[in-house]
Amino acid sequence: MAIEVSDLRKSYGAVEALRGLSFDVRRGEVFGLLGPNGAGKTTTVEILEGYRARSGGSVRVLGQDPAVRDRRQQERVGIVLQSCGFHSHITVREAVGHMAKAYPRPRDVGETIALVGLEDKAEERSGRLSGGQRRRLDLALALVGDPELVFLDEPTTGFDPAARRAAWTVVGALRDLGKTVLLTTHYLDEAQALADRVAIIKDGAMVAEGPPAELSPTSAGYLVSYVSDGRRVEHRTDDPTDLLHRLTGDALARGDRLQGLEVARPTLEDVYLELTAEDEQ
Ligand SMILES: Nc1ncnc2c1ncn2[C@@H]1O[C@H](COP(=O)(O)OP(=O)(O)OP(=O)(O)O)[C@@H](O)[C@H]1O
Ligand SMILES: [Mg+2]
Repeated sequence: MAIEVSDLRKSYGAVEALRGLSFDVRRGEVFGLLGPNGAGKTTTVEILEGYRARSGGSVRVLGQDPAVRDRRQQERVGIVLQSCGFHSHITVREAVGHMAKAYPRPRDVGETIALVGLEDKAEERSGRLSGGQRRRLDLALALVGDPELVFLDEPTTGFDPAARRAAWTVVGALRDLGKTVLLTTHYLDEAQALADRVAIIKDGAMVAEGPPAELSPTSAGYLVSYVSDGRRVEHRTDDPTDLLHRLTGDALARGDRLQGLEVARPTLEDVYLELTAEDEQ
């Protein structure tokens, strides 16, 4: 395991931000942490990074407790913080080059800048980058040390669609290299595209965990639809096999065909919205 989290708790004064969270991330896996604003994602990630102290529970990152500062350990981990301030007067190349010096076997600086698509801005002062460009620089800073485990807290927030797809390619390349990635995101298509497994958390507790395609909602169900008399008829069901058998059986018995028949699986977004919905009682 790259990451082991067991009964993790964190209180900020009276606020219980994490209430006994448990999950594991295997080596070589891309793991997505999802949940609404304030769910506890950044708190979790920063405890794993060793930036915040936990109130309870146990945590292992690459076999060690991140609360114990260890230089060798830090060299094996790359980090993109949710918000990150750095010297705005130095250029992109200087920033990445400076970070590279902190690691024993860094990637090539120019190559890393190209990896995040900032070649054209390499000599620009970082304070003059746009929001999305600054975020790309954050990603470059996390990758330049060639870490085996990468934490990405909302790595693509503020990216334009092309840059977001480019970042997905970067994460895919990290996976192909056998690196472990823990990422948080509010883009469910991103989680669906990138993550081998996701955990959905709410109010500091786990509400669902598993491969994105296997998370099933409790009520949203499958959507079976077809066209009849020029309009689409929709049925929601948890058991599409049975429903399709009846619908197609009836149609065949009438000597009819179901036009435009479709079966839609619930998307990760459907599942997410249902699981994180506020109670409406
Ligand atoms: N330094 C802090 N002091 C006090 N409370 C905090 C602190 N940091 C976070 N919290 C609280 O802990 C809870 C979890 O915050 P956290 O930043 O982990 O959420 P998040 O899931 O990352 O949210 P977002 O999607 O908005 O980034 C929130 O209720 C937040 O107000
Ligand atoms: Mg956060």
